[in-house]
Amino acid sequence: MLDAYRREIRYLRLSVTDRCNYRCAYCMPPEGMNWLEPSAILTDEEILRLLSVLGREGVSKVRLTGGEPLVRPGFVDLVRKIRSLDLIEDLSLTTNGSLLARHAEELKSAGLNRVNISLDTIDPERFRTLTCGGDVRDVLTGIETAIRVGLSPVKINVVLTAAVDEADLAFFQKLVREQPVAVRFIEYMPSRRCRVEAGMTMTSVTEYLSRLAAGKLAPPRHNPFGCGPARYLQSETDQGAYGFIEPISNCFCDRCNRLRLTADGRLRPCLLSDAEIDLRAALRSQASEEEIVGLYRLAVRSKPSSHHLADSETAAFVNRGMSQIGG
Ligand code: GTP
Ligand code: 5AD
Ligand code: SF4
Repeated sequence: MLDAYRREIRYLRLSVTDRCNYRCAYCMPPEGMNWLEPSAILTDEEILRLLSVLGREGVSKVRLTGGEPLVRPGFVDLVRKIRSLDLIEDLSLTTNGSLLARHAEELKSAGLNRVNISLDTIDPERFRTLTCGGDVRDVLTGIETAIRVGLSPVKINVVLTAAVDEADLAFFQKLVREQPVAVRFIEYMPSRRCRVEAGMTMTSVTEYLSRLAAGKLAPPRHNPFGCGPARYLQSETDQGAYGFIEPISNCFCDRCNRLRLTADGRLRPCLLSDAEIDLRAALRSQASEEEIVGLYRLAVRSKPSSHHLADSETAAFVNRGMSQIGG
C-alpha cells in the first residue's frame, strides 16, 4: 500500500515485549522502565490474527523487536507460528545478542531468516557500564553462532556514543574483512529517557575508515543488506560491508517503508511521532477483518512526511522510550 507521499509500506516492526535484560544508556534509565503488565501485551494468537490480516494487505517483511525479544516467554514458538502463516517473506529479529547463542539454532529452524545484533563496544568494562551489567562475551558468542547457523545477513548495530573508540573500529574492520556481516554505525537519536555522552561522530568513523581503506570503499554492486534506512559501502576485498544510519544528518524519511506495532498493540506510523492507533482494543473487541484493515490503512495514510529531530532539541522527545517502541 502507498502512503500519502507515495512511499510503499510493506514492512512492520513488531515489538513483542517492552522488557529487556540490559539498560543501554541511549535507550533507558539505569532503574529500567515501568514494565507493561503481561495482560497488556498482545498474545501469540492476537499477533497471528493481526499478521494474517496485514499479510493480505501487502505486509511481507516483519521485524521482531523489543525491549529484548528473546526475554518473551515462548518466543521461538511465536516465530514458528508466524512462519507457518506462510504470508511473511522476510522474518527478522533485532536483539541485544545476549541470549542468542543458546537460541540461534532453534530460531533458524523455526523459520527466522536473519538477525540484527547490537554491539557498541568490545571493551568489557565499557560494555558493562553502557548496558548496566552486560557481559560482552555473550554477545560475541551470539554473533558467532548467528553466522554459523546462517541467520544471514547478520548485521551489527553500533550506536555512536562515547563508549565507542578506535580499538572498537579496528575490531569492526576485521569483522567486515573476514565475515559476510554488515557493521552499521548509527547516529544517536536523543530521547527523554537516556543518559549518554556524545562521543565518536559519523564523521570520525568515515575519516577512520577512509584513512585505512582510502579510495577502496564504494556502494556494493549487489546489495544483499538493503531494504532499511542504512546506506552501505564495501571494498572488493572485504566479505562484509559498512552501513551508515543517519536519521539526523542524512534524513532517510523519504524512503521510509515501515510501520511499528508496540508490545501493547499500538500501531505507530512513525518512530518519532507520538500518534498511535489502538489495534489491541480492536482485536480484543472481536473487530472484523474489515475494521482491522481500516485501522491499518488509516495508520499508513497518516504517516508524516518526515520527523522533526533537526528542528529543535525538544521536538526530539517522544513520550515513549526507544525500548517501548522497538527502535
Ligand atoms: P533492516 O534494514 O531490515 O535490516 O532493518 P533496520 O536496520 O531498519 O533495523 P534495526 O532494528 O537494526 O534498526 C537499526 C537502527 O535504525 C536503529 O537505531 C533504529 O532505531 C533505526 N531505525 C530503523 N527504522 C527507522 C526509522 O524508520 N526511522 C528512524 N529515525 N530510525 C530508524
Ligand atoms: N538512538 C539510536 N539508536 C538507538 N537504538 C536504541 N536506542 C537508540 C537511540 N537513542 C538502537 C539499538 C538497537 C535498535 C533497536 O535501536 O542499538 O540496535
Ligand atoms: Fe535493551 Fe536494546 Fe534498549 Fe539496550 S537498546 S536497553 S538492549 S532494548
